[in-house]
Amino acid sequence: MLSYHPPFMDPVRLHVPTPSRAYAVTIGDGMLDRIGPLLDEIGAPARRFVVSSPLVWRLHGQQLARAVTLEEPILVPDGERFKQLSTVSRIYDALVRASADRASTIITLGGGVIGDMAGFAAATYLRGIALVHVPTTLLAQVDSAIGGKVGVNHPLGKNLIGAFYQPHAVVIDPLVLGTLPRREFRAGLYEVIKYGMTSSATLFERVARERKAIFARSVGALMPIIAEACTIKGRIVTADEREAGVRRILNFGHTAGHALEAVTRFRRFRHGEAVGYGMLVAAELARARGALADRDRQALADLIVSLGPLPPIADLSAAAILEAMQHDKKIVAGRLHFVLPTAIGATAIVDDVKEPELRAALRKIGTAI
Ligand SMILES: NC(=O)c1ccc[n+]([C@@H]2O[C@H](COP(=O)([O-])OP(=O)(O)OC[C@H]3O[C@@H](n4cnc5c(N)ncnc54)[C@H](O)[C@@H]3O)[C@@H](O)[C@H]2O)c1
Ligand SMILES: [Zn+2]
Repeated sequence: MLSYHPPFMDPVRLHVPTPSRAYAVTIGDGMLDRIGPLLDEIGAPARRFVVSSPLVWRLHGQQLARAVTLEEPILVPDGERFKQLSTVSRIYDALVRASADRASTIITLGGGVIGDMAGFAAATYLRGIALVHVPTTLLAQVDSAIGGKVGVNHPLGKNLIGAFYQPHAVVIDPLVLGTLPRREFRAGLYEVIKYGMTSSATLFERVARERKAIFARSVGALMPIIAEACTIKGRIVTADEREAGVRRILNFGHTAGHALEAVTRFRRFRHGEAVGYGMLVAAELARARGALADRDRQALADLIVSLGPLPPIADLSAAAILEAMQHDKKIVAGRLHFVLPTAIGATAIVDDVKEPELRAALRKIGTAI
């Protein structure tokens, strides 16, 4: 029988030599079909357990199962509200029942929720077994699969329980994004804009210029933006694995973003959407201080608006958002650390942001008093 295989682009391989582990991030269309030799090449232990969600497994599991010999898949729910210890417990249960040992590899197939939970299981089961991330959302491909942060939420706060545990490999296939709902796809794009705004004017301009092809999920448009985002994240986490310094710039847009998520009880926004607003707040703050040209603030606002509508914020009070910021993990010794853009592709971290200027920036982007 004849079958048609579209011509694959050559995969891009990035090296991420963090202090605790060096690993490769391989990006290529059709990588899911080619993962077997790659796992053998890195010496991933032979018993391979995939952890996924029922939906992602149904969409992409068979393709993975054809490419590599797998144990019985471990399927757990992947909504943010399931990102908790009891779900990780279910992963442990399945591993124990299957007598998983140190000769085992966990492959995560899913978005950031699956990657964070199954990554935490890999970090802790038998004090650590091999971990390979196969991220299936844009957010996971450009952000959560790289850098080694794994963990779960506590009922009283997001990501309060976790570890730094670098994967042994990351395998990215942009073709899996073809099934991703548009809103999830856009949520990932805001994080791509974050890399552009903090670290690369070239990436920023590429997203603006190729927006249509990116939304059409054209592999030719997606490959370079995913590769550049991963390059930036890989470089930053290699320089500062445990977020003592430069890695903090990746929190750009996240201080106000997290507060927006918290005041709406994590129900209104996709994380990336809240970061979209958070970047606008930071840009307003920077402009008001004279640290950012209004032209650059406008370019950021235009790009964010061009991706489509964000959930409303006019009913959210600036006071409640300010209050939520007081609980932020980025508070060090009582001072809120804020990442401010200074140009497209450049940032500064400040710790002297005062409440009135924050309030003014929140009002500017459209929150209530
Ligand atoms: N570890 C890190 O460094 C890091 C960084 C950023 C975010 N995160 C975490 O990532 C999580 C968010 O990740 P996310 O945005 O990927 O959300 P997610 O994992 O909840 O996935 C979003 C939705 O997309 C579905 N999905 C996944 N892949 C799909 C595909 N190919 N086709 C169709 N549907 C698909 C999922 O089933 C889910 O419903 C948060 O918990 C956040 O804390 C972690
Ligand atoms: Zn984020």
